Amino acid sequence: MRKPEILLAGPFSEAETAALEEDYIAHQPWLQSNPEAYLSDVAPHIRAIATTGALGASRELMQRLPALELVATFGVGVDAIDLDYARSRGVRVTNTPDVLTNDVADLAIGLLLAVSRKIALGDRWVRDGRWPKGPMPLTTSLAGKTLGILGFGRIGRAIASRAEAFGMDILYTARSPRTDVDYGFRPTAIELARDCDSLVISAAGGPQTRGIVDGPVLKALGPQGFVVNIARGSLIDEPALISALMAGDIAGAGLDVFWDEPQINPTFADLANTVLQPHAGSGTHETRAAIGRLMRANLAAHFAGEPLITPFI
Ligand code: 8YV
Repeated sequence: MRKPEILLAGPFSEAETAALEEDYIAHQPWLQSNPEAYLSDVAPHIRAIATTGALGASRELMQRLPALELVATFGVGVDAIDLDYARSRGVRVTNTPDVLTNDVADLAIGLLLAVSRKIALGDRWVRDGRWPKGPMPLTTSLAGKTLGILGFGRIGRAIASRAEAFGMDILYTARSPRTDVDYGFRPTAIELARDCDSLVISAAGGPQTRGIVDGPVLKALGPQGFVVNIARGSLIDEPALISALMAGDIAGAGLDVFWDEPQINPTFADLANTVLQPHAGSGTHETRAAIGRLMRANLAAHFAGEPLITPFI
């Protein structure tokens, strides 16, 4: 039987590409001398897109693919996929929840520790030979402090249980209060920021959460407060964050995600009170392999006429 034809929305790892090519004719237009002409040629045959959280699937791309049935995402976030358009065409969308939860929650805690305990500064203190000249500045404890978690899905919950183990109290904001946890609920980002010591952002991206952490929210967090973002850059008003970091309106930020990835605003790197990561929350061998397996299992289920494993729509 002829392999189904799929489009890769952009480069995947060598291993992932090879695994996809075992089961599919996996078109990679950017490898061709004329990507546009190539895509136009193969477009009528493409039945699925394999994409990532960052690449998503735009309306313009999907409009070029008349036979499109499925968008399979390598990742949990679907904010870069035009979901309304996919729905209107009956195109299904899958993502990869659960398999990345632990690693993303670990990085959130890692960034919280890194900014509050100034781990990157301490590392530079030792490497740059400053230690013999004097001790590094004192840092800030996590134990006994309150962590505000903005977005209480799978990842938010995993961050909460880890933070509890560090002796922190938990508050959270979500669309509605959860009945299965004892943590305090705050209905808005500003109330959450006012009542917590540090804020972790773990909500989905998209129009509903765009800029939800703005200047007033950062002011409410206060000059001792740290903000950590492992979700999407779009949730923070980035110019407001930079102003707050420069003015000392907040103490620091641990950031895995940005507005313009990978060409981030260079000011972030000039600030001493930031710790930066290159969108690496799910970036472990184990988790990326699991994400790939789940994405391919969704593709396989679809082409076998079986129920999708982890459908988003
Ligand atoms: C991935 C992510 O790094 O799951 C997501 O939404 O942002 C990340 O886990 C990304 O999808 C891979 O490019």
